[in-house]
Amino acid sequence: MNNIEIYKTADGSIGLYNKDLDEVYHSKYGAKTEAFEKFIKPALCLDSKCVDILDICYGIGYNTKCALEHFKSIKSIDCIEIDENLAKKSYEFEYNDKINEILKSNLDKPDFINFYFRDVRKIIKILNKKYDIIFHDGFAPHKQPELWSEELIAEISKHLKNNGIYCTYNHSKPVLNALFKAGLYIGKTVENNKTIGITASFNKELIKNPLADFEIEILSTKSAITYKDKNLCSTKENILKQREEEIASSKLETLSHFKSNIKKCNKISI
Ligand SMILES: C[S@@+](CC[C@H](N)C(=O)[O-])C[C@H]1O[C@@H](n2cnc3c(N)ncnc32)[C@H](O)[C@@H]1O
Repeated sequence: MNNIEIYKTADGSIGLYNKDLDEVYHSKYGAKTEAFEKFIKPALCLDSKCVDILDICYGIGYNTKCALEHFKSIKSIDCIEIDENLAKKSYEFEYNDKINEILKSNLDKPDFINFYFRDVRKIIKILNKKYDIIFHDGFAPHKQPELWSEELIAEISKHLKNNGIYCTYNHSKPVLNALFKAGLYIGKTVENNKTIGITASFNKELIKNPLADFEIEILSTKSAITYKDKNLCSTKENILKQREEEIASSKLETLSHFKSNIKKCNKISI
């Protein structure tokens, strides 16, 4: 934990900052609020079921804790986190005492919550289970592109039930494109008229605020070229370099050209 600093987020909950990556684990506007708005609330439409949850990039477990707080009936939660020392301290961070107690006892002796302390790229291939709800909460793609590659998202989508919901905060174009290529319907998670996250599902009915046609068309521009990690073992540097090279040699339309065309078309139709 030497590389991690602790701070108070705006809603009073604890947030973490990773000095090595120069990256926060939780949004400064509120770690607890973020978990609820971006991960729990969009999936609450499944609350009538007894759900199986996959929490990718568990960290100190806000998404799991918030799910335990809000879902009536949870069959299982599988949590994946590469930083075992951090995750094992997750119950020490201020939250509802009862929930921290549940986490502690499941960390000591797994009952309905299981922990996988390894690279998600290794674990995802050996999990033989499908989930109603998948949380995907990796660091930003420019810091850890390996957590957002087309290949990893394709693997993750294989673990989503047909009537399941995938939730992430990440609404960058390469990630949307990877979800689209995996055959998922995509919707925006909106708070105060602002997109703060994404949901995806194989069931169109479960998607609130679906992407508009032009937002799907944008996925065919250079800006949405995905991160590639063919065998799920490339380094961050190679993934970023490969994407740069693909963008440089791509004949796809640029985003600015696409936008100026849309403006022209609108003028004509007016
Ligand atoms: C944005 S933080 C997640 C915050 C977390 N959901 C919480 O509530 O505290 C990203 C997490 O991804 C973990 N991580 C980074 N690379 C990983 C990998 N390859 N496999 C699994 N977890 C990884 C980090 O250790 C970090 O805890």
